[in-house]
Amino acid sequence: MKHKILVTGGAGYIGSHTCIALHQAGYEVVVFDNLSNSSAEAVNRVSQLIDAPIEFIKGDIRDRKALQKVFSEHEFFGVIHFAGLKAVGESVAKPLLYYDNNVSGTITLLDVMSEFSMKRFVFSSSATVYGDPETLPIPENAPRSATNPYGQSKLTVECVLEDLAVADNDWSLVTLRYFNPVGAHSSGIIGEDPNDIPNNLMPFISQVAVGKLEKLSIFGKDYATIDGTGVRDFIHVTDLALGHVAALDYLKEQSGSKEGHSVGFLPINLGTGKGTSVLELVDTFAKVTEQDIPYQFAKRRAGDIASCYASADKAKTLLGWEAKLSIIDMCTDTWRWQSRNPNGYNAS
Ligand code: NAD
Ligand code: WQD
Repeated sequence: MKHKILVTGGAGYIGSHTCIALHQAGYEVVVFDNLSNSSAEAVNRVSQLIDAPIEFIKGDIRDRKALQKVFSEHEFFGVIHFAGLKAVGESVAKPLLYYDNNVSGTITLLDVMSEFSMKRFVFSSSATVYGDPETLPIPENAPRSATNPYGQSKLTVECVLEDLAVADNDWSLVTLRYFNPVGAHSSGIIGEDPNDIPNNLMPFISQVAVGKLEKLSIFGKDYATIDGTGVRDFIHVTDLALGHVAALDYLKEQSGSKEGHSVGFLPINLGTGKGTSVLELVDTFAKVTEQDIPYQFAKRRAGDIASCYASADKAKTLLGWEAKLSIIDMCTDTWRWQSRNPNGYNAS
């Protein structure tokens, strides 16, 4: 029998790639998404890629009744919770929206799961919970802090999950802290499709390459890094997707074991463990795609840190997962998606 997984936010960037990986690993997927930052076309394309229909429910995680209906109609093995808003700048302007969506929405989801005794949960957290890290590479037990409402919303949910694990030891609450997800499916059929002008580096570079944006601004050239620009742990979205499969496989193993079936609150970094500078990424992108990427240096962006990369040991030891794809793969696959879909999921 196939294990059925509820994927909230499954029409989004990471969710859509994870649906493919889940299907390929033998899981059945039900997508629940309000399409506030995505398009139903992404789900259609996933379905086309896996050559199978995908059940899609348009709904909001803050809508208790809608969730109750979903849980009463399906028997899930677990929930992967991607649904959330993720724009740091917007979160500063609209904190109530971010706390409502990301925190209240998650609490409603957990509450309905509890009502249906469904207590396996995989949460999309972020390296942002480490704030400005004291130690590099960053281990999971590093101190946590937040510098903006988006980051605070992720940190708050982590605290809710920790408290929940203490209160009820039936819960398995795997908290995956993503570093910097980039890239696209190798088919070029699905990828990242930001609304408006991208805030993140990779989609900005690829939109410069395709001629939608004129020039990249590199924020800061005097950080204490290899070349003065920021250093990040870029991770291919396909590797990230496989990290979710590894987390579920681990929960499957645990649920079959004698001694205990739940893992409590379990934070795990999903990163490569390697730092790459902004300039290195720009140069690699230009080389592998043979596109010119005009750039200028600009002042540091408020809230940015110099360097951030993961200790990826825990994921390897516990889940048997490690990132395999290179910066070259990340650039090649981003470009394949961007050049074939200059307007994202909107037909051009
Ligand atoms: P995304 O915006 O592409 O996907 C999120 C999906 O959730 C979208 O399809 C959106 O429509 C849906 N959604 C939002 N609010 C909802 C609600 N109330 N009810 C139902 N659906 C809702 O973002 P992504 O990059 O795929 O990120 C997925 C998750 O990973 C998010 O929680 C994000 O905070 C987290 N994350 C992302 C990054 C990153 O850089 N992309 C890094 C770390 C963590
Ligand atoms: C990377 C580097 C920038 C754009 C953000 C969120 C974080 C997480 C991932 C969700 C930095 C530089 C960027 C540009 C640039 N998201 N840059 N010019 O800031 O590491 O993380 O996304 O959880 O919470 O904060 O990613 O891609 O925005 O920036 O020079 O136009 O690229 O200064 O050094 P970041 P990013």
